[in-house]
Amino acid sequence: MKKLMAANWKMYKTVEEGVQTATELMQLLTSNSLQDREVLLCPSFTMLGAVGPILSKVPGCFLGAQNFYPAGQGAFTGEIAPEQLKALGCTYALAGHSERRHVLGEPDEFIGQKIVFGLHSGLNMILCIGETIAERQAGKVEEVLARQLAMGLANALSMATAKTLAVAYEPVWAIGTGEVAGPAEIMAAHAFVRAQLVSLLPEYGQKIRILYGGSVKPDNARTIIHLDNVDGVLVGGASLQAKSFSQIVLA
Ligand code: 13P
Repeated sequence: MKKLMAANWKMYKTVEEGVQTATELMQLLTSNSLQDREVLLCPSFTMLGAVGPILSKVPGCFLGAQNFYPAGQGAFTGEIAPEQLKALGCTYALAGHSERRHVLGEPDEFIGQKIVFGLHSGLNMILCIGETIAERQAGKVEEVLARQLAMGLANALSMATAKTLAVAYEPVWAIGTGEVAGPAEIMAAHAFVRAQLVSLLPEYGQKIRILYGGSVKPDNARTIIHLDNVDGVLVGGASLQAKSFSQIVLA
């Protein structure tokens, strides 16, 4: 399985700015072979339609959504359905990002519904998990990760495969803080997630990609990407510029 190098642009950029960054990124990546890497860009909904065709010019680059509502269609003002995302070229979506858990207050059950509905709709899902600093200091890292995985995947076990599911370990205290988790912390968390995945999904658990996210930058990406059980990265701030994200992709 190729490493998945994912960009989460969060609520940044206008359509024009997104098109410009995606265009620059594709220029930087076409001149280099992606080899064992795949690239995923998750921009705001507003620019999915404009950015998708730019990505599709480079094999191995994919478009993803940061969120969706788990229903086919209906009276859900302000929400977006998986079918609407697929119609714009999305093949991936995130669920359970810490900003949605902690800023928007999404509970584990709802995230589990999104994983099921996204897979059912034919999207590849990335389940984001991670502990807060208070949970880490209280010695609860494994308890939190086990709960978020079990509840996120509760009704998805018969649908998830190594192709359709990835997990992103993003310790909340390392997101946007410049404080990257150290290699030992990353390896311990990823080994724990791997063991949980193998126990939940005996057939695919060994191969499901586990991404690391939290202050990944060009100067630490190479070390992180080569750690045991790290099968990719999910990058926020450093993905907003084409140059720095391309350096991470090719690290
Ligand atoms: P930063 O790379 O800015 O820390 O963000 C990580 C993240 O939340 C990616 O989803």
